[in-house]
Amino acid sequence: MRAAIYRRPGPAAEVLEVVDLDVPEPGPGQVRVRIATSGINPTDWKGRAGLTARRPDGFQVPHHDGAGVVDAVGEGVVGLAVGQRVWLYLAAYRNRFGTAAEYAVVPAERAVPLPDSASDDLGACLGVPALTAAHCLGGTPEGLKDRTVLVAGGAGAVGHYAIELARHAGARVVATVSSPEKQSLAEAAGAEHVVLYTDEDPAAQILAAVGRVDRIVEVAPMANLDLDLRVLARGGTIATYAADETLTLPGGPLMSANAVLMFALLYTVPAEQLAAAVRWTSEVLDSLSALPITEFPLDRVAEAHDAVEQGAVGKVVVRP
Ligand SMILES: NC(=O)c1ccc[n+]([C@@H]2O[C@H](COP(=O)([O-])OP(=O)(O)OC[C@H]3O[C@@H](n4cnc5c(N)ncnc54)[C@H](OP(=O)(O)O)[C@@H]3O)[C@@H](O)[C@H]2O)c1
Repeated sequence: MRAAIYRRPGPAAEVLEVVDLDVPEPGPGQVRVRIATSGINPTDWKGRAGLTARRPDGFQVPHHDGAGVVDAVGEGVVGLAVGQRVWLYLAAYRNRFGTAAEYAVVPAERAVPLPDSASDDLGACLGVPALTAAHCLGGTPEGLKDRTVLVAGGAGAVGHYAIELARHAGARVVATVSSPEKQSLAEAAGAEHVVLYTDEDPAAQILAAVGRVDRIVEVAPMANLDLDLRVLARGGTIATYAADETLTLPGGPLMSANAVLMFALLYTVPAEQLAAAVRWTSEVLDSLSALPITEFPLDRVAEAHDAVEQGAVGKVVVRP
């Protein structure tokens, strides 16, 4: 099969190669999926660049997310059969065969049925972004009805699904973005109010539009903490999924707000909570939309990685 691999971390153009590999066989509890679309997330290029701890074990086929069709089933797998369309999550986590190839072999629970009504593009957008969004929203739709949610970075991949999931759960959603183009994307996802965080006093605009917010899904905690604390309701939650830097926290204001700070890293979300996020995403899949797609052929996977690294809007995919 044709597959993109890297053998050592480094710049995309130096370390990514497209090679012929033997088609892998699924072991017990695994399925093999013929990949239609492979979605790229920031974590994929960060892993390839060596910014995360894990090093390839011989070689690594990158990319966690994707959509395709089950084409072989390992011993003991229940609930998935050959021919089933699926979306994949965390395909390359502690697993050599990610989705940047004609076939991926993954633990069966990371392959989730994709209904015929859903496109491969949607399937390849969901994994990291939708599951992170669902987890940051509390993992279930319960408790969000009539609550107010602020989604920072509402045109980002996680932000997009945070808006869609929160809206579907009955929350009022306000989002921040940096440009009118991104405002249109956040509005299309369902945000009722979208504030340019580059404007003067975005917190005042949020308060005027929706009052205090019960939960914040935060992409840039250090940059936004002052804003967050100005708009957070007492006892509200700031759930952040992008906090690589050292955080310096204002204890007094956080205590005064009785704020709950939540940190999320998809790789280490407890299994039952991850399963809940998968369930929620699956149950409302008909109400979710694909991100704007930029596609590359597999042979140009290095360019695709660079596009993600440079902050492409929407979802960059390769089609093996
Ligand atoms: N912890 C986890 O499990 C997890 C899961 C998914 C993603 N992540 C990380 O989260 C980050 C975002 O991922 P993604 O896939 O959503 O990326 P993305 O699609 O590139 O979206 C990031 C968004 O954040 C916005 N943004 C940047 N600075 C902002 C600020 N100060 N205020 C409001 N919005 C801001 C960006 O737009 P502007 O720059 O135009 O504002 C962009 O729309 C990446 O660093 C990724 O590695 C972590």
